[in-house]
Amino acid sequence: MNHIDSLRDLFGTEFVAADVKGYCRSHGTTYDTVTKYLKPYKVGRGKWNLEITQNVVDSIESSLEKVYLVPEKDPNYVPFGNFNTLKKIIKSGLFYPTFITGLSGNGKTLSVEQACAALNKELIRVNITIETDEDDLIGGFRLVDGNTVWHNGPVTEALERGATLLLDEVDLASNKILCLQSILEGKGVFLKKIGRVVKPAKGFNVIATANTKGKGSDDGRFIGTNVLNEAFLERFALTFEQEYPNAKTETSILNKLCKDQNFCARLADWADIIRKTFYDGGIDEVISTRRLVHIVNAYSIFNDKVKAIELCLNRFDDETKQAFLDLYDKVDADVEINQ
Ligand SMILES: Nc1ncnc2c1ncn2[C@@H]1O[C@H](COP(=O)(O)OP(=O)(O)O)[C@@H](O)[C@H]1O
Ligand SMILES: [Mg+2]
Repeated sequence: MNHIDSLRDLFGTEFVAADVKGYCRSHGTTYDTVTKYLKPYKVGRGKWNLEITQNVVDSIESSLEKVYLVPEKDPNYVPFGNFNTLKKIIKSGLFYPTFITGLSGNGKTLSVEQACAALNKELIRVNITIETDEDDLIGGFRLVDGNTVWHNGPVTEALERGATLLLDEVDLASNKILCLQSILEGKGVFLKKIGRVVKPAKGFNVIATANTKGKGSDDGRFIGTNVLNEAFLERFALTFEQEYPNAKTETSILNKLCKDQNFCARLADWADIIRKTFYDGGIDEVISTRRLVHIVNAYSIFNDKVKAIELCLNRFDDETKQAFLDLYDKVDADVEINQ
Protein backbone atom coordinates (compact mmCIF):
# COMPACT_ATOMS: atom_id res chain seq x y z
CA MET A 1 0.00 0.00 0.00
CA ASN A 2 1.34 3.42 -0.80
CA HIS A 3 1.65 6.25 1.69
CA ILE A 4 -1.45 8.03 0.48
CA ASP A 5 -3.70 5.01 0.87
CA SER A 6 -2.22 4.25 4.29
CA LEU A 7 -2.80 7.83 5.42
CA ARG A 8 -6.38 7.68 4.17
CA ASP A 9 -6.97 4.45 6.12
CA LEU A 10 -5.57 5.98 9.27
CA PHE A 11 -6.96 9.51 9.22
CA GLY A 12 -9.61 9.72 6.51
CA THR A 13 -9.39 12.32 3.77
CA GLU A 14 -8.25 15.26 5.89
CA PHE A 15 -5.19 15.39 8.13
CA VAL A 16 -2.58 17.78 9.49
CA ALA A 17 1.22 17.84 10.05
CA ALA A 18 1.03 16.14 13.48
CA ASP A 19 -0.83 13.19 11.91
CA VAL A 20 1.78 12.86 9.16
CA LYS A 21 4.66 13.02 11.66
CA GLY A 22 3.07 10.25 13.74
CA TYR A 23 2.63 8.17 10.59
CA CYS A 24 6.30 8.66 9.63
CA ARG A 25 7.51 7.53 13.05
CA SER A 26 5.44 4.36 13.00
CA HIS A 27 6.29 3.55 9.37
CA GLY A 28 10.02 4.30 9.47
CA THR A 29 9.90 6.99 6.83
CA THR A 30 10.71 10.70 6.77
CA TYR A 31 8.34 13.66 6.85
CA ASP A 32 9.97 15.11 3.72
CA THR A 33 9.38 11.95 1.71
CA VAL A 34 5.72 11.68 2.62
CA THR A 35 4.92 15.37 2.18
CA LYS A 36 6.42 15.20 -1.30
CA TYR A 37 3.72 12.70 -2.30
CA LEU A 38 1.11 14.82 -0.59
CA LYS A 39 1.97 17.97 -2.47
CA PRO A 40 -1.05 17.96 -4.85
CA TYR A 41 -3.41 17.69 -1.87
CA LYS A 42 -2.04 20.56 0.15
CA VAL A 43 -4.85 22.94 1.14
CA GLY A 44 -2.95 25.07 3.67
CA ARG A 45 0.18 25.13 5.82
CA GLY A 46 0.56 21.61 7.25
CA LYS A 47 -2.94 20.68 6.04
CA TRP A 48 -3.95 18.17 3.40
CA ASN A 49 -7.20 17.00 1.93
CA LEU A 50 -7.16 13.96 -0.34
CA GLU A 51 -10.45 14.87 -1.96
CA ILE A 52 -9.52 18.29 -3.04
CA THR A 53 -6.42 19.17 -5.00
CA GLN A 54 -5.33 22.51 -6.35
CA ASN A 55 -6.20 21.09 -9.78
CA VAL A 56 -9.80 20.65 -8.69
CA VAL A 57 -9.91 24.21 -7.38
CA ASP A 58 -8.34 25.49 -10.59
CA SER A 59 -10.77 23.60 -12.77
CA ILE A 60 -13.76 24.89 -10.78
CA GLU A 61 -12.40 28.42 -11.03
CA SER A 62 -11.75 28.13 -14.75
CA SER A 63 -15.21 26.69 -15.41
CA LEU A 64 -16.60 29.79 -13.69
CA GLU A 65 -14.40 32.00 -15.80
CA LYS A 66 -15.85 30.60 -19.01
CA VAL A 67 -19.08 32.42 -18.21
CA TYR A 68 -17.47 35.65 -19.30
CA LEU A 69 -16.82 35.85 -23.00
CA VAL A 70 -16.71 38.18 -25.91
CA PRO A 71 -20.39 39.02 -26.49
CA GLU A 72 -22.07 37.51 -29.52
CA LYS A 73 -22.67 39.70 -32.54
CA ASP A 74 -26.34 40.53 -32.93
CA PRO A 75 -27.23 40.44 -36.64
CA ASN A 76 -30.20 42.72 -35.90
CA TYR A 77 -28.10 45.47 -34.36
CA VAL A 78 -28.23 48.81 -36.18
CA PRO A 79 -25.42 51.19 -35.15
CA PHE A 80 -26.45 54.79 -34.52
CA GLY A 81 -25.65 57.83 -32.38
CA ASN A 82 -22.54 57.47 -30.24
CA PHE A 83 -21.80 53.94 -31.34
CA ASN A 84 -18.72 54.71 -33.43
CA THR A 85 -17.24 57.04 -30.83
CA LEU A 86 -17.79 54.44 -28.16
CA LYS A 87 -16.17 51.81 -30.35
CA LYS A 88 -13.13 54.06 -30.84
CA ILE A 89 -12.71 54.45 -27.09
CA ILE A 90 -12.84 50.69 -26.54
CA LYS A 91 -10.56 50.03 -29.50
CA SER A 92 -7.95 52.49 -28.22
CA GLY A 93 -7.31 50.17 -25.28
CA LEU A 94 -6.88 53.24 -23.10
CA PHE A 95 -8.32 53.55 -19.65
CA TYR A 96 -11.06 56.07 -20.18
CA PRO A 97 -14.08 55.62 -17.90
CA THR A 98 -17.22 56.47 -19.83
CA PHE A 99 -20.74 57.22 -18.62
CA ILE A 100 -23.76 56.70 -20.91
CA THR A 101 -26.98 58.29 -19.79
CA GLY A 102 -30.35 58.25 -21.51
CA LEU A 103 -33.97 57.18 -21.19
CA SER A 104 -34.79 53.52 -20.72
CA GLY A 105 -34.77 51.09 -23.65
CA ASN A 106 -32.88 53.17 -26.19
CA GLY A 107 -30.01 50.76 -26.71
CA LYS A 108 -27.39 51.84 -24.16
CA THR A 109 -26.53 48.37 -22.90
CA LEU A 110 -26.79 46.85 -26.34
CA SER A 111 -24.42 49.46 -27.80
CA VAL A 112 -21.67 48.51 -25.32
CA GLU A 113 -22.22 44.80 -25.95
CA GLN A 114 -22.18 45.23 -29.70
CA ALA A 115 -19.12 47.50 -29.67
CA CYS A 116 -17.23 44.76 -27.78
CA ALA A 117 -18.62 42.07 -30.08
CA ALA A 118 -17.43 44.00 -33.13
CA LEU A 119 -13.95 44.43 -31.61
CA ASN A 120 -13.71 40.86 -30.31
CA LYS A 121 -13.21 42.33 -26.88
CA GLU A 122 -14.15 40.63 -23.64
CA LEU A 123 -16.96 42.29 -21.76
CA ILE A 124 -17.98 41.69 -18.18
CA ARG A 125 -21.38 43.09 -17.36
CA VAL A 126 -22.52 43.71 -13.82
CA ASN A 127 -26.10 44.69 -13.17
CA ILE A 128 -26.00 47.12 -10.31
CA THR A 129 -28.78 47.15 -7.71
CA ILE A 130 -29.16 48.86 -4.35
CA GLU A 131 -27.90 45.59 -2.80
CA THR A 132 -24.65 45.43 -4.80
CA ASP A 133 -21.69 45.46 -2.43
CA GLU A 134 -17.94 44.94 -2.32
CA ASP A 135 -18.26 41.17 -2.13
CA ASP A 136 -20.40 41.11 -5.31
CA LEU A 137 -18.07 43.44 -7.17
CA ILE A 138 -14.54 42.71 -5.97
CA GLY A 139 -14.90 39.14 -4.76
CA GLY A 140 -14.97 37.01 -1.66
CA PHE A 141 -14.61 33.53 -0.29
CA ARG A 142 -16.75 30.76 -1.70
CA LEU A 143 -17.19 27.25 -0.38
CA VAL A 144 -15.69 24.69 -2.76
CA ASP A 145 -15.93 21.04 -1.64
CA GLY A 146 -15.89 22.05 1.99
CA ASN A 147 -13.03 24.49 1.63
CA THR A 148 -13.16 28.23 1.45
CA VAL A 149 -11.56 29.41 -1.75
CA TRP A 150 -11.12 32.98 -2.90
CA HIS A 151 -13.26 33.80 -5.90
CA ASN A 152 -12.73 36.91 -7.99
CA GLY A 153 -15.71 39.17 -8.38
CA PRO A 154 -16.52 40.53 -11.84
CA VAL A 155 -14.52 43.73 -11.30
CA THR A 156 -11.34 41.88 -10.27
CA GLU A 157 -11.82 39.45 -13.13
CA ALA A 158 -12.13 42.32 -15.63
CA LEU A 159 -9.02 43.99 -14.18
CA GLU A 160 -6.97 40.81 -14.54
CA ARG A 161 -8.20 40.05 -18.04
CA GLY A 162 -7.98 43.59 -19.38
CA ALA A 163 -11.66 43.33 -20.26
CA THR A 164 -14.27 46.05 -20.57
CA LEU A 165 -16.29 46.31 -17.38
CA LEU A 166 -19.91 47.38 -17.87
CA LEU A 167 -21.55 48.78 -14.74
CA ASP A 168 -25.11 48.56 -15.98
CA GLU A 169 -27.77 50.80 -14.39
CA VAL A 170 -25.17 52.28 -12.08
CA ASP A 171 -27.56 54.92 -10.71
CA LEU A 172 -29.38 52.17 -8.79
CA ALA A 173 -26.30 51.76 -6.60
CA SER A 174 -25.97 52.64 -2.94
CA ASN A 175 -22.84 54.26 -1.52
CA LYS A 176 -21.28 50.78 -1.37
CA ILE A 177 -20.25 51.40 -4.98
CA LEU A 178 -17.54 53.69 -3.60
CA CYS A 179 -15.37 50.59 -3.16
CA LEU A 180 -14.68 51.10 -6.89
CA GLN A 181 -13.04 54.48 -6.39
CA SER A 182 -9.42 53.34 -6.78
CA ILE A 183 -10.39 51.23 -9.81
CA LEU A 184 -11.97 54.25 -11.48
CA GLU A 185 -8.69 56.05 -10.97
CA GLY A 186 -6.95 53.33 -12.96
CA LYS A 187 -5.00 52.06 -9.97
CA GLY A 188 -6.48 48.61 -9.59
CA VAL A 189 -7.46 47.23 -6.24
CA PHE A 190 -5.98 45.83 -3.05
CA LEU A 191 -7.78 42.62 -2.13
CA LYS A 192 -7.59 43.07 1.61
CA LYS A 193 -9.14 39.67 2.40
CA ILE A 194 -6.24 37.82 0.76
CA GLY A 195 -3.58 40.54 0.82
CA ARG A 196 -3.11 40.71 -2.95
CA VAL A 197 -2.80 43.72 -5.21
CA VAL A 198 -4.49 43.50 -8.62
CA LYS A 199 -3.30 45.98 -11.20
CA PRO A 200 -5.38 46.64 -14.30
CA ALA A 201 -4.17 44.61 -17.28
CA LYS A 202 -3.79 46.41 -20.58
CA GLY A 203 -7.15 47.11 -22.21
CA PHE A 204 -9.12 47.36 -18.98
CA ASN A 205 -11.80 50.04 -19.05
CA VAL A 206 -15.04 50.90 -17.29
CA ILE A 207 -18.29 51.90 -18.95
CA ALA A 208 -21.36 52.77 -16.92
CA THR A 209 -24.94 53.15 -18.12
CA ALA A 210 -27.75 54.92 -16.30
CA ASN A 211 -31.17 56.41 -16.92
CA THR A 212 -30.22 59.55 -15.03
CA LYS A 213 -26.98 61.47 -14.70
CA GLY A 214 -26.59 60.19 -11.17
CA LYS A 215 -28.38 63.18 -9.68
CA GLY A 216 -31.63 61.34 -8.94
CA SER A 217 -34.91 61.60 -10.80
CA ASP A 218 -37.26 64.47 -9.90
CA ASP A 219 -40.26 63.30 -11.88
CA GLY A 220 -40.35 59.88 -10.21
CA ARG A 221 -40.04 58.03 -13.50
CA PHE A 222 -36.95 56.17 -12.45
CA ILE A 223 -37.86 54.74 -9.10
CA GLY A 224 -34.88 53.37 -7.23
CA THR A 225 -32.33 55.63 -8.86
CA ASN A 226 -30.05 57.27 -6.36
CA VAL A 227 -27.95 60.37 -6.19
CA LEU A 228 -24.44 59.14 -6.78
CA ASN A 229 -21.49 60.45 -4.85
CA GLU A 230 -20.03 63.48 -6.62
CA ALA A 231 -16.46 62.15 -6.34
CA PHE A 232 -17.59 58.90 -7.94
CA LEU A 233 -19.14 60.74 -10.91
CA GLU A 234 -16.05 62.91 -11.26
CA ARG A 235 -13.97 59.79 -12.02
CA PHE A 236 -15.78 59.36 -15.34
CA ALA A 237 -13.85 61.14 -18.05
CA LEU A 238 -16.67 61.45 -20.52
CA THR A 239 -20.47 61.32 -20.62
CA PHE A 240 -22.60 60.39 -23.62
CA GLU A 241 -26.21 61.49 -23.70
CA GLN A 242 -27.93 58.79 -25.65
CA GLU A 243 -31.11 59.80 -27.47
CA TYR A 244 -33.66 57.48 -29.01
CA PRO A 245 -32.77 56.62 -32.60
CA ASN A 246 -34.41 58.84 -35.21
CA ALA A 247 -37.42 57.53 -37.13
CA LYS A 248 -35.30 56.33 -40.06
CA THR A 249 -32.89 54.33 -37.87
CA GLU A 250 -35.72 52.99 -35.77
CA THR A 251 -37.53 51.83 -38.91
CA SER A 252 -34.38 49.91 -39.93
CA ILE A 253 -34.19 48.32 -36.48
CA LEU A 254 -37.82 47.17 -36.73
CA ASN A 255 -37.42 46.04 -40.34
CA LYS A 256 -34.84 43.50 -39.23
CA LEU A 257 -37.55 41.85 -37.15
CA CYS A 258 -40.69 42.45 -39.19
CA LYS A 259 -41.24 42.25 -42.93
CA ASP A 260 -44.17 44.68 -43.00
CA GLN A 261 -42.20 47.79 -43.94
CA ASN A 262 -45.17 50.08 -43.79
CA PHE A 263 -46.08 48.99 -40.27
CA CYS A 264 -42.46 49.47 -39.11
CA ALA A 265 -42.34 52.98 -40.55
CA ARG A 266 -45.68 53.92 -38.96
CA LEU A 267 -44.54 52.63 -35.57
CA ALA A 268 -41.34 54.66 -35.81
CA ASP A 269 -43.30 57.82 -36.77
CA TRP A 270 -45.68 57.21 -33.90
CA ALA A 271 -42.85 56.80 -31.36
CA ASP A 272 -41.26 59.97 -32.72
CA ILE A 273 -44.45 62.00 -32.19
CA ILE A 274 -44.93 60.53 -28.71
CA ARG A 275 -41.39 61.48 -27.73
CA LYS A 276 -41.79 65.03 -29.04
CA THR A 277 -45.04 65.35 -27.08
CA PHE A 278 -43.25 63.95 -24.03
CA TYR A 279 -40.39 66.46 -24.27
CA ASP A 280 -42.98 69.26 -24.63
CA GLY A 281 -44.63 68.07 -21.43
CA GLY A 282 -47.83 66.93 -23.15
CA ILE A 283 -47.59 63.32 -21.94
CA ASP A 284 -45.94 61.56 -18.97
CA GLU A 285 -44.53 58.47 -20.67
CA VAL A 286 -42.56 57.57 -23.76
CA ILE A 287 -42.41 54.63 -26.10
CA SER A 288 -38.93 53.13 -26.07
CA THR A 289 -37.18 51.28 -28.86
CA ARG A 290 -37.50 48.21 -26.66
CA ARG A 291 -41.30 48.61 -26.59
CA LEU A 292 -41.47 48.93 -30.38
CA VAL A 293 -39.52 45.69 -30.61
CA HIS A 294 -42.08 44.10 -28.27
CA ILE A 295 -44.86 45.32 -30.56
CA VAL A 296 -43.40 43.89 -33.78
CA ASN A 297 -42.71 40.61 -31.97
CA ALA A 298 -46.32 40.51 -30.78
CA TYR A 299 -47.39 41.23 -34.36
CA SER A 300 -45.40 38.25 -35.60
CA ILE A 301 -47.21 36.05 -33.08
CA PHE A 302 -50.79 37.33 -33.54
CA ASN A 303 -50.64 38.78 -37.03
CA ASP A 304 -52.94 41.53 -35.78
CA LYS A 305 -51.56 45.08 -35.55
CA VAL A 306 -54.16 46.51 -33.18
CA LYS A 307 -53.90 43.55 -30.84
CA ALA A 308 -50.10 43.75 -30.86
CA ILE A 309 -50.14 47.46 -30.02
CA GLU A 310 -52.83 47.16 -27.37
CA LEU A 311 -51.17 44.24 -25.58
CA CYS A 312 -47.89 46.05 -25.44
CA LEU A 313 -49.53 49.26 -24.17
CA ASN A 314 -51.28 47.55 -21.26
CA ARG A 315 -48.39 48.35 -18.95
CA PHE A 316 -49.34 52.04 -19.04
CA ASP A 317 -52.23 53.58 -17.09
CA ASP A 318 -55.56 53.90 -18.94
CA GLU A 319 -55.20 57.58 -19.76
CA THR A 320 -51.71 57.21 -21.22
CA LYS A 321 -52.70 54.08 -23.11
CA GLN A 322 -55.66 55.90 -24.67
CA ALA A 323 -53.50 58.90 -25.60
CA PHE A 324 -50.99 56.55 -27.29
CA LEU A 325 -53.76 54.75 -29.19
CA ASP A 326 -55.24 58.05 -30.38
CA LEU A 327 -51.85 59.10 -31.69
CA TYR A 328 -51.42 55.81 -33.50
CA ASP A 329 -54.80 56.29 -35.13
CA LYS A 330 -53.51 59.59 -36.53
CA VAL A 331 -50.28 58.21 -38.02
CA ASP A 332 -51.72 55.07 -39.61
CA ALA A 333 -54.80 55.51 -41.76
CA ASP A 334 -54.89 51.78 -42.59
CA VAL A 335 -55.46 50.65 -39.04
CA GLU A 336 -58.82 50.90 -37.31
CA ILE A 337 -58.45 51.39 -33.57
CA ASN A 338 -61.67 50.56 -31.69
CA GLN A 339 -62.38 53.46 -29.37
N1 LIG B 1 -29.34 49.96 -32.30
C1 LIG B 1 -30.19 48.96 -32.09
N2 LIG B 1 -30.32 47.97 -32.99
C2 LIG B 1 -31.19 46.97 -32.77
N3 LIG B 1 -31.99 46.87 -31.70
C3 LIG B 1 -31.91 47.83 -30.76
C4 LIG B 1 -31.01 48.91 -30.90
N4 LIG B 1 -31.14 49.71 -29.83
C5 LIG B 1 -32.08 49.15 -29.04
N5 LIG B 1 -32.54 48.02 -29.60
C6 LIG B 1 -33.60 47.15 -29.04
O1 LIG B 1 -34.02 47.73 -27.81
C7 LIG B 1 -33.80 46.82 -26.72
C8 LIG B 1 -33.34 47.59 -25.51
O2 LIG B 1 -32.00 47.99 -25.61
P1 LIG B 1 -31.08 48.14 -24.32
O3 LIG B 1 -29.70 48.31 -24.78
O4 LIG B 1 -31.35 47.04 -23.37
O5 LIG B 1 -31.65 49.51 -23.72
P2 LIG B 1 -31.11 50.37 -22.49
O6 LIG B 1 -29.90 49.71 -21.95
O7 LIG B 1 -30.88 51.72 -23.06
O8 LIG B 1 -32.26 50.38 -21.51
C9 LIG B 1 -32.80 45.82 -27.25
O9 LIG B 1 -32.97 44.58 -26.62
C10 LIG B 1 -33.13 45.76 -28.73
O10 LIG B 1 -34.21 44.89 -28.97
MG1 LIG C 1 -29.69 48.80 -20.09
